[in-house]
Amino acid sequence: MTSSIEYSIPFNRSALVGQELDYITEALRIGQIGGDQSFTQRCQKLLEKALQVPKALLTTSCTHALELAAMLLDLQSGDQVIVPSFTFVSTVNAFVLRGARPVFIDIRQDTLNMDEAQVERLLTPRTKAIVPVHYAGVGCEMDVITEVASRHGVAVVEDNAHGLFGSYRGQNLGTFGAFSAQSFHETKNFTCGEGGALLLNDSRYIERAEILREKGTNRSRFFRGQVDKYTWVDIGSSYVMSDVLAAFLYGQLEVWPQIQEKRRRVWDYYDRHLGDWARERGIRRPCVPPHCDQAYHMYYLLLPGPEQRTALIEHLKKRGILSVFHYLPLHLSSMGQKFGGKPGDCPVTEKVSERLLRLPFYNTLSELEQEKVVAALLEF
Ligand SMILES: Cc1ncc(COP(=O)(O)O)c(C=O)c1O
Repeated sequence: MTSSIEYSIPFNRSALVGQELDYITEALRIGQIGGDQSFTQRCQKLLEKALQVPKALLTTSCTHALELAAMLLDLQSGDQVIVPSFTFVSTVNAFVLRGARPVFIDIRQDTLNMDEAQVERLLTPRTKAIVPVHYAGVGCEMDVITEVASRHGVAVVEDNAHGLFGSYRGQNLGTFGAFSAQSFHETKNFTCGEGGALLLNDSRYIERAEILREKGTNRSRFFRGQVDKYTWVDIGSSYVMSDVLAAFLYGQLEVWPQIQEKRRRVWDYYDRHLGDWARERGIRRPCVPPHCDQAYHMYYLLLPGPEQRTALIEHLKKRGILSVFHYLPLHLSSMGQKFGGKPGDCPVTEKVSERLLRLPFYNTLSELEQEKVVAALLEF
């Protein structure tokens, strides 16, 4: 992506929203800069309470939370996971790392989420997990996905990188699957630069998740005084976030309703001002079904074709505004092709991927800046 320096309105801009710096100072002052200390506990408690999940574990990234989920499922070589092709590489790679084979599913035309009607057809006796991604923070059709999964004894792992504090039919995203993965990367609604969380909705997995996350040791039990020394008990890796980052993150999470309100305003402003313009030009705006409370993660447009998208990116660039496209179909990537992916496998993904454009969207995007973006778009 081009550096934001050339753009008066970048695509994303990180900013302090609360007491992040005070909390970092506090972590340093009390000498807690390793992992799993007081700010990690505060973040985890906040997430557990706000989302009503039995356990949240901060991780070094969403990618790592997905890797933990894949380890917890004890996948064997040749097991299959149903994953969208229209997603970030980590949604798939976390499972491929464990030896699983990705089975790519296409997306719906409206929400750009996994097409739940195709899940049943892709299930085989080797399917071990279905991985819905709540694209742009709008919920996948979880009633169908969870029903099919439980009928076939298959786990659901939600990639909720975009969806924190969104809900589907009144239930929080991230609380449907056995596991869900959150991202606190700098482009997300809540951030600490790089970070993530694993949410566990099935308490049976909590103790093992703590072990895998702590290099395969029972160190978490040792910290709680449940054992007098810690030792190697399982496979695992180093997925614990530093409390310095957790302190920053807590400064954001504790004001989550205010952040979501700001983002709602940004999203609504675009949507209110672009309706007529988009309709007249055959440009599609995001679709949010009435039973979904979205997480206001992004605002995208679907242009009639790739040429118009390139032209619009250029048009905005000349006016100092950075707009960006998004995922390239994973089934057509060089790695995806090794798993048998070929053109035509996921036709909606292939079409959407070359037409989608994301507008600048960040917590401090001002109405004046948005006015400029909208004015530039209306000239196009
Ligand atoms: C859907 C999705 N899943 C996972 C990730 C990976 O997140 P992280 O950078 O926290 O590992 C991203 C990154 O943007 C994403 O968009």
